[in-house]
Amino acid sequence: MEMADRSVIVTGGASGIGRATALLLAREGARVFVGDVNEEAGRAMAEEARGAGRNIAFHRLELTDPASVAAFAGAVHAAVPCLDGLVNAAGWDRIQPFMENAPEMWDRVIAINLMGGVRLARLVLEPMIAANRGKIVNVASDAGRVGSMGETVYAAAKGGIIAFTKSLAREMARHRINVNCVSPGPTDTPLFQAQPERMQAALIRAIPFRRVAAPEEIGQAIMFFLSARSDYITGQVLSVSGGLTMVD
Ligand SMILES: NC(=O)c1ccc[n+]([C@@H]2O[C@H](COP(=O)([O-])OP(=O)(O)OC[C@H]3O[C@@H](n4cnc5c(N)ncnc54)[C@H](O)[C@@H]3O)[C@@H](O)[C@H]2O)c1
Repeated sequence: MEMADRSVIVTGGASGIGRATALLLAREGARVFVGDVNEEAGRAMAEEARGAGRNIAFHRLELTDPASVAAFAGAVHAAVPCLDGLVNAAGWDRIQPFMENAPEMWDRVIAINLMGGVRLARLVLEPMIAANRGKIVNVASDAGRVGSMGETVYAAAKGGIIAFTKSLAREMARHRINVNCVSPGPTDTPLFQAQPERMQAALIRAIPFRRVAAPEEIGQAIMFFLSARSDYITGQVLSVSGGLTMVD
């Protein structure tokens, strides 16, 4: 099993890409800590997975609240003093033209998609640096690489997490910690399904593979960056988009 003996946090693990990733990692032998604001769905998925013999624990996490992020990291570190991996998969957006956005919405988008991952990384890095090992995978979005109508500030936050990934990768290389980004294209999750049908259909027509990704297909790329297969890769952004985006 590819992830045997590895302990990994997955944020946003109650739904969509985070959920599929947590289940995939656990199936491959990892001990997984899921953090999510959706307690009901998070606890249910962890319970169901444990019933199937998987090692998944759930802890509540509200990424917009620094005290909750600290409590979450504290709970995980009480169980495992040093993690092998952190997957920042939680995200949130509301599709809307920029000129109609309420400024409070900008704050929320940036707090969840950018600052949440930044704060959690700061907390898990301390023991990783002491142990001289660790892998961080940030889930960005191709919106942050090539732009996306109706997702203007979300794209800015995702572009921010991409730049954060690259700079952090440079700082952490001396500690043998890899920091990479998986950048999904349209993926079949509740976040995607919340888009107007007209927009979903237009996206599918534009994708060379003519379908959106299954959440587990994003999870496979995340697992690659957590595994020994990517030990010599850091600061990179991998689009998983069925060919929709082809960025140099
Ligand atoms: N679905 C897509 O088409 C797509 C495309 C590109 C990027 N992404 C990115 O992939 C990641 C996963 O998205 P998804 O499509 O699986 O979405 P999703 O809505 O299915 O899951 C997101 C999870 O994040 C959690 N979350 C939201 N706000 C939170 C907060 N404040 N604190 C803690 N948890 C919170 C939600 O409860 C949910 O469980 C996100 O970062 C998203 O931006 C998704």
